[in-house]
Amino acid sequence: MAFVLALFLSFLIGFSQGKLKLGFYSETCPAAESIIRSTVRNAVFADPNMAAVLLRLHFHDCFVEGCDGSILINNVPDPERQAFGHQGVRGFDVIDKAKTQLETACPGVVSCADIVALAARDAIVMTNGPDYPVPTGRRDGRVSNKSLASEMPDVSDSIEKLKAKFFDKGLTEKDLVLLSAAHTIGTTACFFMTHRLFNFIPGGGSDPDINPSFLPELQQKCPQTGDPNVRLPMDEGSEQTFDKHILQNIKDGFAVLESDARLNEDLVTKSVIDSYFGVLNPLFGPSFEADFVQSVIKMGQIGVKTDLLGEIRKKCSSFN
Ligand code: HEM
Ligand SMILES: *[C@@H]1O[C@H](CO)[C@@H](O)[C@H](O)[C@H]1NC(C)=O
Repeated sequence: MAFVLALFLSFLIGFSQGKLKLGFYSETCPAAESIIRSTVRNAVFADPNMAAVLLRLHFHDCFVEGCDGSILINNVPDPERQAFGHQGVRGFDVIDKAKTQLETACPGVVSCADIVALAARDAIVMTNGPDYPVPTGRRDGRVSNKSLASEMPDVSDSIEKLKAKFFDKGLTEKDLVLLSAAHTIGTTACFFMTHRLFNFIPGGGSDPDINPSFLPELQQKCPQTGDPNVRLPMDEGSEQTFDKHILQNIKDGFAVLESDARLNEDLVTKSVIDSYFGVLNPLFGPSFEADFVQSVIKMGQIGVKTDLLGEIRKKCSSFN
């Protein structure tokens, strides 16, 4: 089954990827993908939440300047990494660790941007999500500027704004739903909950879309004057497993993040969610896993640099 899926996907990708290709390193660094996989594996064994952290890192890398490792840079003034829209993004140490090993095995060959994309895939696998072939050949960007991240999607954006920000990157409403479903793993800081729980309505009040049986629990975990760094799972009841449970939660008013809740209000995005819960699913309906894979591969192609605009960094946190 997984094999058939992989075959079908590589067929699709063959026609749609443009510049990247499967197995880009198969001649120049055959061990590349296995080195990255074992680094991710060790990191997730040591800290189970690292899977979510690495998946989020891929999203944040791709949405600013394309998937080019621009978020990894920390040796320039005002690097992109410090942007408000990247609040809480981590995982840099895992990418650096993989890069160190790759530089020993095949110096100057594997880009940091590809490490991020492959690590996200391996993180999904570690949480029982789908395995899939990742087209590679991204080169690392030469620009990292905090002000370029000002248009990151925000948790309090309207559904119209979320859609527009995804359209800008060549992603559809369907991609918005599927990629938001990455919140099937991981946690959020209470910092991102205050607006939704206490100031959603001018003058005070919570988001009416929160199921009334869920609201007290959220408010108790994230009290208005509590510690903003306390973390809570975004897919209540299934936060360690990569599955479509998050979409059921969104349908039922159990979304934790405000932006996830908005997906159930819009006709188009709601119909995408509902398509995974038809009476004939899972026998005949669309597969959440297969559709997610298509969307995440698409996200991984945003603004990729395969020419001399990019470089292969020696160290992921600094330009050559
Ligand atoms: C639709 C726009 C999106 C918004 C507004 C959004 C917002 C957020 C916020 C506020 C958090 C909590 C961060 C923290 O407290 O550390 C978060 C976590 C996360 N996001 Fe998103 N996100 C979006 C899309 C995505 C996409 C497209 C992906 C990946 C495909 C993704 C993957 C994740 C993951 C895995 C986490 C958990 C991180 C952890 O546990 O540390 N998100 N997101
Ligand atoms: C970052 O971008 C802003 C806005 O485009 C620009 O004014 C600023 O000079 C840039 N900073 C660096 C270090 O290039």
